[in-house]
Amino acid sequence: ETKPRIPVLWLHGLECTCCSEAFIRSAHPLASDVILSMLSLDYDDTIMASAGHAAEAIVEEIVTKHKGNYILAVEGNPPLNEDGMYCIIGGKPFVEQLKYAAANAKAVISWGSCASWGCVQAAKPNPTQAVPVHKVIHDKPIIRVPGCPPIPEVMTAVITYILTFERIPELDRQGRPKMFYSQRIHDKCYRRPHFDAGQFVEAWDDENARKGYCLYKMGCKGPTTYNSCSTTRWNGGVSFPIQAGHGCIGCSEDGFWDNGSFYNRL
Ligand code: SF4
Ligand code: SF4
Ligand code: F3S
Repeated sequence: ETKPRIPVLWLHGLECTCCSEAFIRSAHPLASDVILSMLSLDYDDTIMASAGHAAEAIVEEIVTKHKGNYILAVEGNPPLNEDGMYCIIGGKPFVEQLKYAAANAKAVISWGSCASWGCVQAAKPNPTQAVPVHKVIHDKPIIRVPGCPPIPEVMTAVITYILTFERIPELDRQGRPKMFYSQRIHDKCYRRPHFDAGQFVEAWDDENARKGYCLYKMGCKGPTTYNSCSTTRWNGGVSFPIQAGHGCIGCSEDGFWDNGSFYNRL
């Protein structure tokens, strides 16, 4: 309780803010407990009260005063075309703010599929040349927490782990925490017995859909998607896309936006 709280600088590039929306809905632990008791969320331009020069001064203060000790959390990504002019923060291209803030950070968290992989704004032909964080930051440990958005409890758990154990969680080859991304949705899906039995939904409103059969033939990407949705679930463990009747679109996988995830049936 007496330990100084680790400062977190949370930046926003090209994004939709749903990663923040997810984070603030974490139920276990509550996002309010994480923010008020565990970390020192000194800067987050979406939810902080300050604006303008006062907000910019906070970035400067964290970067200089907490050199080497703060966590840089990034939501969204930098567009590189036209010298970064497609995303301007405080009068400068976001890519500059990102590089500046990363230079003194202890580690970087790439929230969501935007920061981890590029996501929809990097979809072909990617007119702004949006790139994931690791394409511009090469000299810091980067923890990828993909998903569009990531599961709220996965976000708070990752940050709680770092603050509690003062180390980054074990990562897989793609830089994702193994504890949440080592299994496919398909491995723990409650509709899996129907897959194994060859019982499939053939149309959105057919009798098999009403029976809760497997959504594979409706384009479900659960067999190729690594995430915790079928175990942790969403809304405090209540449900997840497949339970709501729609197949997984693989929103935590690299390239899902260009790889036919959206409503492509088999
Ligand atoms: Fe929004 Fe998805 Fe990007 Fe998160 S990863 S900011 S949810 S588009
Ligand atoms: Fe696998 Fe999707 Fe079928 Fe679940 S609904 S068993 S994840 S193919
Ligand atoms: Fe995304 Fe699939 Fe989970 S679409 S939210 S990874 S079930």
